Amino acid sequence: MMNSSKSAYSDYFGRIHGILLYKKFIEYWNDVETFEARPDDLVIVTYPKSGTTWVSEIVYMIYTEGNVEKCKEDTIFNRIPYLECRTENVMNGVKQLKQMASPRIVKSHLPPELLPVSFWEKNCKIIYVCRNAKDVVVSYYYFFLMVTANPDPGSFQDFVEKFMDGEVPYGSWYKHTKSWWEKRTNPQVLFIFYEDMKENIRKEVMRVIEFLGRKASDELVDKIIKHTSFQEMKNNPSTNYTTLPDEVMNQKVSAFMRKGIAGDWKNYFTVALNEKFDIHYEQQMKGSTLKLRTEI
Ligand code: A3P
Repeated sequence: MMNSSKSAYSDYFGRIHGILLYKKFIEYWNDVETFEARPDDLVIVTYPKSGTTWVSEIVYMIYTEGNVEKCKEDTIFNRIPYLECRTENVMNGVKQLKQMASPRIVKSHLPPELLPVSFWEKNCKIIYVCRNAKDVVVSYYYFFLMVTANPDPGSFQDFVEKFMDGEVPYGSWYKHTKSWWEKRTNPQVLFIFYEDMKENIRKEVMRVIEFLGRKASDELVDKIIKHTSFQEMKNNPSTNYTTLPDEVMNQKVSAFMRKGIAGDWKNYFTVALNEKFDIHYEQQMKGSTLKLRTEI
């Protein structure tokens, strides 16, 4: 389709502990590995395209007690730095976090074994957001098309094959979600589903507030729900990534706030691809009690 000038996959990615990741991130991996957590850090972890930005804004609203103006003071990637993100000069999650006053909110896409050990040692709270694989792969495909730091994903079918093989940044969705699911019994970890948020946002917002040890007034919850609705976040420059130049993220190709629904995969999967995906999915998730809904 587009991005024909983009070169091969191997130009973009390397491996860290066997997981495919952007070369630049790997180059500075020592900074991530040795990152020093603070006990009051909160980490928001997801597999990419699972609702990170949505939950991040909800958490920021909770931290500011519903102060919309404060939320709009800066872009989400400055308010909630992306830990392992690194480019030469522009992005440096570790540096941003080091300079930040407590309490910090940290964004990461790392599997539990790659999350800096300091977060575990300091017993930091972690929120993991999980979204069904089919909607994730569609969202990830469009993200590949619009983000310059990604190679040409090829056809949708090609990309789904890569996703199934774990040959996309952050590796296997199956392993990522299963290993975080195993952590859910840790009282410092809150595991939430994108689909549950779509179905009953009030309930999930209340869960997050409770997990963070805050008080949930009706007024605060109403404010959060309004401010973090898909339409609000799509129109809000501090959450929709439109402050980034086209050379980094070309939203003319696809909007960062694309559709924000559950079940969009049905518009992209052919019957044959869906069958193949389902069989592979069963094999990968066998033995796990993690169950996701592909529609609501
Ligand atoms: P789609 O591409 O399916 O629309 P992440 O923040 O982890 O990168 O995830 C991005 C996905 O979350 C996109 O999915 C985006 O539209 C969706 N999203 C972002 N904000 C949302 C909101 N307030 N409500 C529902 N979905 C949202």
